[in-house]
Amino acid sequence: MSKLKLIQVGIGGMGDTWVRTVLASSEMEYAAWVDIDRHTLEQQSQKYGFDINHCYTSLEQALERERADGLINVTPPAAHETICMTALAAGLPVLTEKPLASSLAAAKRLVTTAEQAGLTLMVAQNYRYQPLTMTLHELISKKGILGQVGQVAVQFFKGPHFGGFREEMEFPLLVDMAIHHFDLMRYILGKDPQSVRGKSWNPSWSWFRGDASVALLFTFQEGLPVVYTGSWCAMGAETSWNGDWRIEGERGVLLSQEDQIYFGTPGKRELEKVPLLSCERTGQAYLLHEFFLALTEGYIPKTHGADNIKSLEMVFGAIEAVHTGNIVRLGDD
Ligand SMILES: NC(=O)c1ccc[n+]([C@@H]2O[C@H](COP(=O)([O-])OP(=O)(O)OC[C@H]3O[C@@H](n4cnc5c(N)ncnc54)[C@H](O)[C@@H]3O)[C@@H](O)[C@H]2O)c1
Repeated sequence: MSKLKLIQVGIGGMGDTWVRTVLASSEMEYAAWVDIDRHTLEQQSQKYGFDINHCYTSLEQALERERADGLINVTPPAAHETICMTALAAGLPVLTEKPLASSLAAAKRLVTTAEQAGLTLMVAQNYRYQPLTMTLHELISKKGILGQVGQVAVQFFKGPHFGGFREEMEFPLLVDMAIHHFDLMRYILGKDPQSVRGKSWNPSWSWFRGDASVALLFTFQEGLPVVYTGSWCAMGAETSWNGDWRIEGERGVLLSQEDQIYFGTPGKRELEKVPLLSCERTGQAYLLHEFFLALTEGYIPKTHGADNIKSLEMVFGAIEAVHTGNIVRLGDD
């Protein structure tokens, strides 16, 4: 079977990870690359031997000249709505980087447009598809090994100096990173959130313009409290990108620390190390395969737009909560 053809918009930064994923795929290949930065296009075309004649600085021009089956969007959040809308208007299914859009209203407009056009719109929540997170999902959401889960705490502390758009955002941690952890909460616990309250702040040493630290209390279905504390200007003792998790239920506790899982029970001092699932595909390769199935078999990707709105609501609900000091209800519509 011949490979499906993709246009990718945004070739630098995270775009490079996607380029390597698509070039390694047996199901997809490139029709064209688009990036507003010609220098990036030239550099990447040379690095990967991709024909510069299929590289464009304008998406409209690429759509006019190339035949494609789908589009991958890897641009900064502020550009997501325009690029995804342009692709959908041209009849192309879209796999976009998170966050789906830089406002909830824009994300909902995208979901409605895709639904009306009957086109796939899926979001790259790649954190779901790693041995660690797939194992936690299997143990808790599917097998229920803890019984009723009654308290959850997630801690994320990193100190990256990215430069670029993140250092200018009003809520860099919440909008550009915590969306992964919030989406993981829904995936691992198999429940949706109902409310959020909390506080954000920017430590005196922060190199971000907007608040880089946050403490939130979500309430999930059945009254389950989930506490999230995080910072993007940690001064050492960093966690992994997945963060450290403590998930406690009536039959014991699961800890995820430094990307290893441990199981504890009352009165037992030693924690039992839990083996991780082995997964055929992970991360971007998993997402790309789901996109392929959506385009060829009508499969609905797990992180499709309407599902992703529930994770994005946690982001924008948290922003409203820290702005107003109020408890913000989620999932009402
Ligand atoms: N899923 C993950 O694990 C993960 C990791 C990193 C970044 N991301 C996401 O990927 C996206 C891009 O982030 P990044 O770190 O690569 O940013 P970046 O700024 O490093 O790179 C963005 C690229 O897009 C190009 N670009 C910008 N605006 C454009 C436009 N309007 N049209 C065409 N090209 C445009 C830039 O020239 C650049 O090459 C963001 O949404 C970010 O949240 C996801």
